[in-house]
Amino acid sequence: MAPTSSPRFSPSEVTVIFFLGGPGSGKGTQSTNLVRDYGFVHLSAGDLLRAEQLREGSQYGAMIKTYITEGKIVPMEVTVNLLSNAMRESLDNNPPAAGTKARFLIDGFPRKLDQAVFFEETVCPSELVLFLDCPEDVMEARLLKRGETSGRDDDNAESIRKRFRTFVETSMPVVDDFEAKGKVVKVQATGSVEEVYAQVKQGIEERGVHPR
Ligand code: ADP
Ligand code: C5P
Ligand code: MG
Repeated sequence: MAPTSSPRFSPSEVTVIFFLGGPGSGKGTQSTNLVRDYGFVHLSAGDLLRAEQLREGSQYGAMIKTYITEGKIVPMEVTVNLLSNAMRESLDNNPPAAGTKARFLIDGFPRKLDQAVFFEETVCPSELVLFLDCPEDVMEARLLKRGETSGRDDDNAESIRKRFRTFVETSMPVVDDFEAKGKVVKVQATGSVEEVYAQVKQGIEERGVHPR
């Protein structure tokens, strides 16, 4: 179906890159490198949801906590609104230098096909999708280690199992869909942080994204 209205942001004013990969594949870690070298504004859907969960007066707090602990995907309107508002706020508070476009690295989103369609129709079409490919045993070891200090409700063995299941059943179809459209830069995520980053850099630069 054709969109009924145009997206809130145009690809002529902003560049959106989606950053996908299973839980613990290293998205947050690599995002730090990408922000430093490429001038991305990093927006993590999970971080925004956790902040909303804790925000006093939020009508969604309890609901978000349940979804996160169960490793389920929060209803998309909530997440898309948080992302869209964070983009607006960033553009208002830190407008890009004259002659440059703002770059948004949207981490952990879209995790479900309906989110992808809704975001691209109402917020902004994506330029490309960076995908960290990582086996479950590696991700599990990283998450259990992270859980020793993260304080997250979902870095425990039971939630991790549920998150892997959601990833395979619900989120991989999003990656496959973008792959079929030729938009995916896929990187093996099993090496060291530096090794993975070297491949990330190579992958995005081949698609015309250069440091700034
Ligand atoms: P994600 O955001 O994809 O869930 P994180 O970036 O939080 O993943 O990484 C999960 C955990 O694994 C963190 O504790 C991080 O320090 C660690 N980690 C990230 N990348 C690597 C890597 N290449 N090798 C070893 N550990 C890593
Ligand atoms: O990306 P991160 O691991 O921080 O996400 C944590 C949780 O937040 C997910 O397991 C899911 O419950 C929720 N989430 C979501 N929709 C997204 C991103 C995260 O529901 N697009
Ligand atoms: Mg993360």
